[in-house]
Amino acid sequence: MIERPEPHPDLDWSTDRAAAFGRRAVELWEELLRRLPDLPVTHGRPAGEVRDAVGIPVPEEPMPDDELFAHLADLLFERSMYPGHPRFLAYVSGAGTVPGAPADLLAAAVNMNLGGWGLSPGGTEIELHLTRFFAERFGFPATAGGLIVSGGAMANFVGLKTARDHVAGWDVRTRGVSAGAPLTMYMSSETHVVSSRAADMLGLGTDAVRVVDVDDGFRIRLDRLRDQVRSDEEAGFRPFAVVASAGTVATGAIDPLDEVADLCAEEGLWLHVDGAYGGPAAFADDLRPAFAGIERADSIAFDPHKWLYTPHSGGCVIVRDLQHLADSFAVHATYVRQDKERTGRGLDLGMLGPQFSRGFWALKIWVSILAHGWRAYRERISHDAALARYLGERVAEHHEFELACPVGLSICCFRFVPDDLDDVPAREEYLNALNERLMTDAQQDGRVFFSNAVIGGRYVLRVCIVNFRTEADDLDAVLEVTVELGHKLDAELRPAHVAAHGRSS
Ligand SMILES: Cc1ncc(COP(=O)(O)O)c(C=O)c1O
Repeated sequence: MIERPEPHPDLDWSTDRAAAFGRRAVELWEELLRRLPDLPVTHGRPAGEVRDAVGIPVPEEPMPDDELFAHLADLLFERSMYPGHPRFLAYVSGAGTVPGAPADLLAAAVNMNLGGWGLSPGGTEIELHLTRFFAERFGFPATAGGLIVSGGAMANFVGLKTARDHVAGWDVRTRGVSAGAPLTMYMSSETHVVSSRAADMLGLGTDAVRVVDVDDGFRIRLDRLRDQVRSDEEAGFRPFAVVASAGTVATGAIDPLDEVADLCAEEGLWLHVDGAYGGPAAFADDLRPAFAGIERADSIAFDPHKWLYTPHSGGCVIVRDLQHLADSFAVHATYVRQDKERTGRGLDLGMLGPQFSRGFWALKIWVSILAHGWRAYRERISHDAALARYLGERVAEHHEFELACPVGLSICCFRFVPDDLDDVPAREEYLNALNERLMTDAQQDGRVFFSNAVIGGRYVLRVCIVNFRTEADDLDAVLEVTVELGHKLDAELRPAHVAAHGRSS
């Protein structure tokens, strides 16, 4: 006797039920948008308190909607911090476009799997179209294309794995990295740490990363780069890639891309550009000249979730020749064989990158660009850089601030230097300690939120604008809050510092 299972519809909500649930979620989103400017950037609550509040017991039976939405409201309004707040100016974390949020809902609703074309016809074609659009904007040829990935770390990893496999000179994918001369890659001391981690993930080890000095503009020194490559070749290493930065995370410096491209062409090296932060600035007419040579890269990592403002997460890797991604990532799985001729199916993106199943991350980027239009992006990116320059000028004219370096792209680094510091012993040590506390206290305070950089051993405050809600008033507020907290902390910290070091003669 065959036992025929009865329907089990618990998880299969009616459309009315689904729509009512969705409407409540949209109401919460609306409330968030309305309240955002009046919320603190962060509540500054400690981990234990947040853990206790959000770690509610998992119910055996459905939680009533009122209770569930009260839990979500508490999460949104009491246990979150707000990268979309106009005064969030830290790290490189985009504000999150408004159209991106409903686009994410629709992507989840249809739930296409962008690993295979057959599971995501429209989704795959949008991702290919979008990445080709970006490739063209960077000046790449028609062979170029790319993928939307989780973020800059993954985009850099994909670019560097493609480089390794293409340049090594033996089949690294089957024979491994130890089947030939030890591979080495090159980057400046200002390059983001994720590229070193990529070397680790690629089985090369971080010793394979040759860290090259920078000039006084924080750009890779070409003479040192050339010397290092040549001496490694002579010593029997196999140099395979240079990571050039198009916008370093600390100061927004752009390596001399054209010259690095010349060197890579001479030496047969892959040029990978980490433009995770700065890449989108190449789309802004006034900023583009600083990126001359980017069109000669073999691969570029850049992050829509940073300076294209789209919600987390979504980075992008572009390669000069899409075939190189297939060469580096294609695998054969017998259970997904398909007759492409009969079905007319297109490219399977799961064969071009490290992920097999993939979400429709591209939709929030695509919808944001469609909804706002490309001009608004180019102009807003330019505006962000203008705001950073404005902040730089205000810092420079203020007697208690010191500009730490020239404004780079949309980053302004400075420090608080109170008047009458002349008789304070170990002045630099004191300023480092003071500014470090200042950054921590400003973040906890919640009125403004910036981060820090360490430049030439100095601890400095760092404002990075990748936020379409930020305007000059918000930057004025940064300076006001910094001076207010700075004076308070100076009064608190200076006596102990002086007592510990003795007054200078
Ligand atoms: C230059 C640069 N590269 C890579 C990354 C890492 O990107 P993600 O955090 O998206 O993985 C960052 C992050 O700030 C960055 O600024």
